[in-house]
Amino acid sequence: MNLPKVSDVDVSGKRVLVRADLDIDIGENYRLEALLPTITYLSSKSSKIIIMGHLGRPGGKVVEELKIKPVEEELRKIAQGIEFEVLENLRFNPGEEANDVLYAKELASKGDVYVNEAFATSHRNSASITELAKLLPHAAGIRFVEETENLSKVLENPVRPLVFVVGGSKDDKKEYVKNLESLADKILIGGRLPEYYGDLALESVRQADGQDKVIIANLIQDKEDITLNSIEKFEGEIEKAGTLVLAGPMGHYEDEGHRQGTERIFKAVAASGAFKVVGGGDSLSVLSMYSLKDKFDWVSVGGGAMLEFLSKKTLPGIDVLLKRL
Ligand code: 3PG
Repeated sequence: MNLPKVSDVDVSGKRVLVRADLDIDIGENYRLEALLPTITYLSSKSSKIIIMGHLGRPGGKVVEELKIKPVEEELRKIAQGIEFEVLENLRFNPGEEANDVLYAKELASKGDVYVNEAFATSHRNSASITELAKLLPHAAGIRFVEETENLSKVLENPVRPLVFVVGGSKDDKKEYVKNLESLADKILIGGRLPEYYGDLALESVRQADGQDKVIIANLIQDKEDITLNSIEKFEGEIEKAGTLVLAGPMGHYEDEGHRQGTERIFKAVAASGAFKVVGGGDSLSVLSMYSLKDKFDWVSVGGGAMLEFLSKKTLPGIDVLLKRL
């Protein structure tokens, strides 16, 4: 994939708009650390760095608790010595998620060059991801390029069986799962997702021969974790895997009483000798909770974006970067 790199564009002394992944749980700074190589490079070129991103899903209006300030403060702590400005949560403007060209033009007027360092959001057709890239000379961030290179290893002759473990609560993951069926040998579904499959859940998990490709966990009564039976079934599949992709917690892990599935499945994946990648905002928090980050071959900033990249080999945010102005 021949992405334009920051070193390919003239950024010296220029105003550079950097689209970043600022959608974090405060204290879980992996997505912010991913920004450092790019902004360190830009700083060395005396660029005027303008960082922009979203936090949560405010739905096009100002939501007090989703203001970007606390994220900016975290970033200033880890990027000491680098000067930059941070724009307010882009999703406070309805134009961002509507991919509105006028809003993209408003953003473009603030910069001379556009850099996408928001891999985790590049599956979204948002103004700051797709329209903006069409308006300015552009490049992929340093870490963004590494994401595509490392995730591509899952696609190029993976050691089989290739097993996906998909959890979390975002219902759009169901669509990615469908697209992954031709690539994967097994897809294990947990978190809130079994709810979106209706009765199928019960049937799949009852299959005794273990031959079905998509295995959907059963949920405990309050639906906040997967059952012990499902945990054991998933552990068995993880043990046999040659390549593993983990995307999302198995339950409401923030709550001590609903952490069992997540803890056991994350630890089982971490202990596997398979080539393994993990990604997504909540997954990053779980990895920190159990100090598991260094057990993985690649820790992606993306959750949905990682799954969409693996299923389509590209993302809307990548397609626009590939088109030179
Ligand atoms: C993520 O956390 O996966 C990204 O920030 C994208 O968030 P979204 O699912 O709200 O678009």
